[in-house]
Amino acid sequence: MSNDIIDVSMISNNTKKIKAAITAIGGYVPEDFISNKDLEKMVDTNDEWITARTGIKKRRILKEKGKATSYLAIKAANDLIKKKKLEPDTIDLVIVSTITPDFHGASTSPTVASQINASNAYAFDINAACSGFLYGMSTATSYIESGRYKKVLLIGADMMSSIVDYTDRSTSILFGDGAGAVLIEPSKNEFGWEDEFLRSDGVGADWLKIKAGGSLYPTSKETFEKKWHYITQDGKTVFKSAVSEMANATEQIIIRNKLDRNDIKYLLPHQANKRIIDATAEKINLDKNKVLMNIEEYGNTTAATIPLLMHDYESNFKKGDKIILAAFGAGLTWGAAYLTWAYN
Ligand code: COA
Repeated sequence: MSNDIIDVSMISNNTKKIKAAITAIGGYVPEDFISNKDLEKMVDTNDEWITARTGIKKRRILKEKGKATSYLAIKAANDLIKKKKLEPDTIDLVIVSTITPDFHGASTSPTVASQINASNAYAFDINAACSGFLYGMSTATSYIESGRYKKVLLIGADMMSSIVDYTDRSTSILFGDGAGAVLIEPSKNEFGWEDEFLRSDGVGADWLKIKAGGSLYPTSKETFEKKWHYITQDGKTVFKSAVSEMANATEQIIIRNKLDRNDIKYLLPHQANKRIIDATAEKINLDKNKVLMNIEEYGNTTAATIPLLMHDYESNFKKGDKIILAAFGAGLTWGAAYLTWAYN
């Protein structure tokens, strides 16, 4: 063999692929809440309708003045740090997925990183609405798999109460505040992030958005009077798309990973509406007992729903469990992912 010919088999034998895994979880929801009964006094609705049409009973609300999304994110991060006994200065990167940053223009993650003493980290936000946690996982796991970083803290956090019009019964019944945090590190075993299927389509941007406050419609007297600073949606269209795209993305993941539905331990779907979740599970023919939910307690906390599910069900997960995540949100953005749980 001449000197300039490389034996490729030697390279592949010597290069062990780094797998990224979730190694710790934290979560936080505010104490205060708005119940369906409370909403009855605010808009023309009732507990029976909300429960039957959405599965939601309460949504947690951050009421204290001067506190915002960073507060929720810091609480979730500190919960993780305490449980994991993590030295914050060993964190390389802090990502906050949110559509309700403390400010426009300055991202929320640097505030979070400073407040949790992640003094050696850099930080950035991801805006992918209800798919923010999935998109964040894609980013975070890529940094770990490439070998560039060793500890990435991903937080899904949203203070939806700051953008909800509490005179609009189509949105005020759905959204709540909360945050969930995960630590992503190189896996110490064969388990971790396995696959992802992510998509977006700007054609549906109008179906779910906050119209004003961006560069197209800067905040003005007119936008304020038209209430364009609040979230609005075409509920029925969003509903149908969410079911079909979450089901399709999950199906893609099942097919290309040759997964047997019986072997899937849990589906962690974005918590938008119980009927969306039920219809998605039915469409992919997945046993309802495998589908995790906490929507009744929290409503839709946008980027926080999936990490909050992980937080609430963490004790159920066992090493090697095959878990599917699925989400759909404004943008439009959506996707599904497959991971094997890496710790007991
Ligand atoms: N309380 C009581 N009645 C209500 C109501 C409310 N909050 N909202 C609507 N209604 C009434 C309507 O006026 C309508 O009455 P009618 O039959 O007499 O005309 C009836 O209930 C059905 O309304 P509709 O808009 O068809 O309800 P729906 O079943 O589509 O539910 C949503 C509305 C918003 C709950 C549902 O469309 C949804 O969840 N969409 C997805 C939204 C979402 O998840 N967004 C975030 C995505 S990440």
